[in-house]
Amino acid sequence: MPNTPLSQDELKTLVGRAALDYVVPGQVVGVGTGSTVNKFIDALAGMRERIPGAVSSSVASTERLRALGIPVLDASAVESLAVYIDGADEIDGHGCMLKGGGAALTREKIVAALATTFVCIADASKRVQTLGAFPLPVEVIPMATRRIERQFAAMGGRASVRQKNGAPLVTDNGQHILDVQGLQITDPLAFETEVSQWPGVVTVGVFAYQKAQICLLATADGVETIRYA
Ligand code: 5RP
Repeated sequence: MPNTPLSQDELKTLVGRAALDYVVPGQVVGVGTGSTVNKFIDALAGMRERIPGAVSSSVASTERLRALGIPVLDASAVESLAVYIDGADEIDGHGCMLKGGGAALTREKIVAALATTFVCIADASKRVQTLGAFPLPVEVIPMATRRIERQFAAMGGRASVRQKNGAPLVTDNGQHILDVQGLQITDPLAFETEVSQWPGVVTVGVFAYQKAQICLLATADGVETIRYA
């Protein structure tokens, strides 16, 4: 009888556990945000005695880590991290990612920048040829929103302010998120460089500077390890 295919939740559990192989005993680990990372955090609890703690990329991940007895350190308390483990909304063939579906992109980029190795954990649905089918999250300072919307419109994008409970979502940093549809990001590094310079943009959810060195991709056949140059 054929095996029942794993659900997306089971694939996330699989890849969350696989990421434990990249945690360096005795060293602080960088921890991202999202449902896939939650599976990693749950697995990390099993080795909490072997690490001094974690640097977290969101209030939500901090709360989950602490609830499981894993100490959370301030990002400014570490000079560098051996590894940062996080999910993605999309990842291309070079390890460039589109991130921010969980609105944590700014702190994710900050923690990723501290790390020598970014390990992306994702299920196979996240692999794409070209970034942009998933609406691009951009954290913005609210007074700049309309102007930034017009700048995206000039590029062919349709931006809208992310809502929560009938009001603009407020990030951990007290700012808003624009989700931009209709973009095809063929040159992620150039795109990230350009949009990052627009006044009022806090962080654009393209991770090309802080791209993944490794992707653990959960597929129907198990976890595939992809390494990028
Ligand atoms: C949060 C992120 C997440 O990594 C991304 O949204 C993927 O989340 P999930 O694992 O829930 O699919 O960037 O800001």
